[in-house]
Amino acid sequence: MEGATEGLLLDGLGFEEDQIFETIITTMDHDGSVNAAPMGVGRTGRETLEIRPFKSSSTYRNLSSRPEACVNVTDDPIIFLVTAFKEEDFRGFEEPSLDGIRLREADAYIFISVRDLDDSEDRARFTCNVDSVEVGEAGPRPFSRGRAQAIEAVIHATRIEFLYGEGRVEEGEEFVRRLSVCKDVVGRVSTPDSAEGRVITELERLIEGWRGG
Ligand SMILES: Cc1cc2nc3c(=O)[nH]c(=O)nc-3n(C[C@H](O)[C@H](O)[C@H](O)COP(=O)(O)O)c2cc1C
Repeated sequence: MEGATEGLLLDGLGFEEDQIFETIITTMDHDGSVNAAPMGVGRTGRETLEIRPFKSSSTYRNLSSRPEACVNVTDDPIIFLVTAFKEEDFRGFEEPSLDGIRLREADAYIFISVRDLDDSEDRARFTCNVDSVEVGEAGPRPFSRGRAQAIEAVIHATRIEFLYGEGRVEEGEEFVRRLSVCKDVVGRVSTPDSAEGRVITELERLIEGWRGG
């Protein structure tokens, strides 16, 4: 049974049913150029994943016109940072490199194709079939509160950029406060020159720029 294997591999990767996991989705535009963006992925069935990009995102546009994608599994906060804010001028941060549609630095890859699209709300809902799964060679890594909090901080920063851009400064400040809680944890468990320490420093620089802009 072909599909059953994919279900087992999703189990093995820790993608439990009815839960959401944070990943980097790579999609292709009509010219074939690859776009990478952090996105939550919900496992809604044995071999079914759901992606909910805002309709303003390139991920939405690409998936609507070219219904194949790769779900890249990683916990590297630098990859989350540079793919969330692609338009920013990052110095000292490596862009992830591409191998076809996948990000070479990721730990595992889930290749998916869109089965159904509901775009009746601002946040669309793509229901996707899992076509195949590949697991890289990286061994187990211990859980790091610092890495987890740095990725949480990147999510807050995407809200801050949006809310400041809309002139909703008060609401933006609430997310700045949440980000400072993440920073506090990172400061306690990680060094300033770790990936997570550098991500927090860079986010603070970006926020300063958005405030001024
Ligand atoms: C961990 C994480 C999860 C995210 N999940 C989503 C999501 O589910 N849907 C969404 O529209 N944006 C999500 N975002 C924000 C997008 O990644 C961000 O808006 C990005 O710039 C969109 O890129 P794109 O226009 O290339 O698709 C998430 C960001 C982070 C850091």
